[in-house]
Amino acid sequence: MTTQAELARMAPPETANEPLFTDPDLAAFAEYLQTYSAAEGWFAIESAAIWDSLLAFQERRNWGGHLLEVGVYKGKSAALMAKRAKSSEHVWLIDRFLRRSDVQRTLAEVIEPADPRLHLENFDSFQLQRHPGLVDQFGKFRFLHIDGEHSAAAVQEDLAMAHAYGSRECLVSVDDILSWTYPQLTESLFRYLREHPDHFSLVLIGFNKAYLARPAYAHEYLKYCREDLIGRLERIGIDAQLSKSSYPAELNAFGIGPRHDGQAYRGLDHDNSIILY
Ligand SMILES: C[S@@+](CC[C@H](N)C(=O)[O-])C[C@H]1O[C@@H](n2cnc3c(N)ncnc32)[C@H](O)[C@@H]1O
Repeated sequence: MTTQAELARMAPPETANEPLFTDPDLAAFAEYLQTYSAAEGWFAIESAAIWDSLLAFQERRNWGGHLLEVGVYKGKSAALMAKRAKSSEHVWLIDRFLRRSDVQRTLAEVIEPADPRLHLENFDSFQLQRHPGLVDQFGKFRFLHIDGEHSAAAVQEDLAMAHAYGSRECLVSVDDILSWTYPQLTESLFRYLREHPDHFSLVLIGFNKAYLARPAYAHEYLKYCREDLIGRLERIGIDAQLSKSSYPAELNAFGIGPRHDGQAYRGLDHDNSIILY
């Protein structure tokens, strides 16, 4: 793995002083990008940068725990989870059609295939709560990514699994939400949230993914999004816009997308300066 300092030396002189190459907080992400930006898969740089920021926030708060992904393909997003996992944290990668050698090849720079912290499971996520290796892991995961079967039924199952395995402080990332290709996933996610308001609250949505936290911790994540997320994305080199176009009583979640009109934040329609959460 090329270090951030080595990357700075390799970068064009006009970019070598940018935060991505100089800010120690961004070292893991710079190294991830160097190796994985060309890897095959479905994981946009904006989502990768949001993940890295939210995972760094969890670390800052000392919210430890294992990491789990349903739907690995060749390991592009899994590599970032593995990169940010601490030595005490395990990485569980679940896929019904696991491409084991592809995934091992993708992860090779981050984690050894034989590392006992790495669990590559050829498993249908519908059966995951019956996995013998996971039965004593309830409540022990801090980050879960749902990107497996793109059916409404699978989203229900995978969210129930995330509820069982997620810790109190966990964050759940759900893929292809607000995607016109898979409207059933958005419907299923909101149905689950409405039917199980005590399991998760939506905190952030955009760039094709939704992010859920436990209701008791949702405000901590909302505060992070409001105060820190956009600035950190800018330091990475991504100009995003955080939107809060309604009142908390209506829906207390931020939207995030490409920046419009040079504005980093967007509030209520009738007064853009009002951002309530
Ligand atoms: C969109 S791809 C995942 C992309 C990946 N996260 C990346 O970074 O490129 C979806 C994956 O879900 C897997 N999958 C489909 N149905 C599944 C199921 N029922 N349980 C677990 N995995 C499933 C597929 O084999 C495929 O690898």
